Amino acid sequence: MGGVMKNQGSVSKPYGLTACRTGLLTLLLFATAGLQADESRVEARNEMFKDGFPRQYESWKATEKMDFKSAHNGNQFEDMLEKDPRLVVLWAGYGFSKDYNAPRGHMYAVTDVRNTLRTGSPSGPDDGPMPNACWSCKSPDVARMIDEQGKDDYFAGKWASKGSEIVNPIGCADCHDTNSDDMKLAISRPYLEDGLAALGYDHANASQQDMKSLVCAQCHVEYYFAGPNKEVVFPWAEGTKAEEMEQYFDHRAFSDWTHAISRAPMLKAQHPGWETWQEGVHGTMWPA
Ligand code: HEC
Ligand code: HEC
Repeated sequence: MGGVMKNQGSVSKPYGLTACRTGLLTLLLFATAGLQADESRVEARNEMFKDGFPRQYESWKATEKMDFKSAHNGNQFEDMLEKDPRLVVLWAGYGFSKDYNAPRGHMYAVTDVRNTLRTGSPSGPDDGPMPNACWSCKSPDVARMIDEQGKDDYFAGKWASKGSEIVNPIGCADCHDTNSDDMKLAISRPYLEDGLAALGYDHANASQQDMKSLVCAQCHVEYYFAGPNKEVVFPWAEGTKAEEMEQYFDHRAFSDWTHAISRAPMLKAQHPGWETWQEGVHGTMWPA
């Protein structure tokens, strides 16, 4: 994302509204009294930033590439259960034994969560195996919904009930305040703020350097679904090391599922990228 400042001179707001049209918009909002307060300040449509921030838009769009493969996966679609069928037994009784594909670029997040057998094939808004929490790391529409409705209303209900709202794949509004003129980095997921607070870290004081990894920590972390509303919670109250998170779950007698063959209560680490990164050379610099 280098060379950003060069773009700034030509940048108006990405919305491209002229003063005149802004005036008309204001009038329309007054005419539909009450609407303005409910309207989201989050612009979830990635395409709206194409003209204002062409370089960042192109680098975001490059996440659609599927041109790389290595021993540690790549950016391509790959059926991991076919590659290693032992996973079906290891995850017996858990959704991942039905379907688990290698991750690929951000551009595919909404497509892939819709296509996986883990989310089932709901026949209506109140049907299906998963809660709305399953959208949480897939789309800037989640940032928009939380901004519009608050987190409790966003989480309430089955995964299918918000399907018509969640349409844009991971993008600008997941990591940026789209209401700021210079696209400030911002935390759009309140459950990361809660997780950091449990660690005793005040995100309001985060440096720009910290923010660069914290935006990723909104999704590339260990999490579980808690309470009747199945909210996303990060299990960090006792620390972010693997043993500390295990202890957190043990203290709450929480398990992700009961293994269908051995009957053992099981935990499955999801993708604790931010937590494991902290243990390495780069991460020990955090908080800087
Ligand atoms: C809103 C949630 C979210 C945020 C924020 C986010 N990611 Fe992701 N990321 C995902 C999801 C979900 C996938 C997998 C998408 C798929 O497979 O369809 C992914 C995939 C990736 C991949 C590809 C993985 C592979 O094996 O090909 C990389 C690399 C990546 N993210 C890096 C980052 C970095 C770096 C940041 C922070 C600058 C970040 N992500 C922020 C949710 C997120
Ligand atoms: C996964 C998180 C993520 C996504 C998605 C993302 N960005 Fe960024 N963006 C970042 C990070 C991290 C930086 C680096 C900030 C820094 O260097 O301090 C950045 C930098 C920028 C900057 C430079 C800001 C500055 O102060 O120099 C702009 C402008 C920008 N992004 C626009 C966009 C646009 C437009 C999109 C969508 C097309 C987008 N970004 C998508 C994380 C993201």
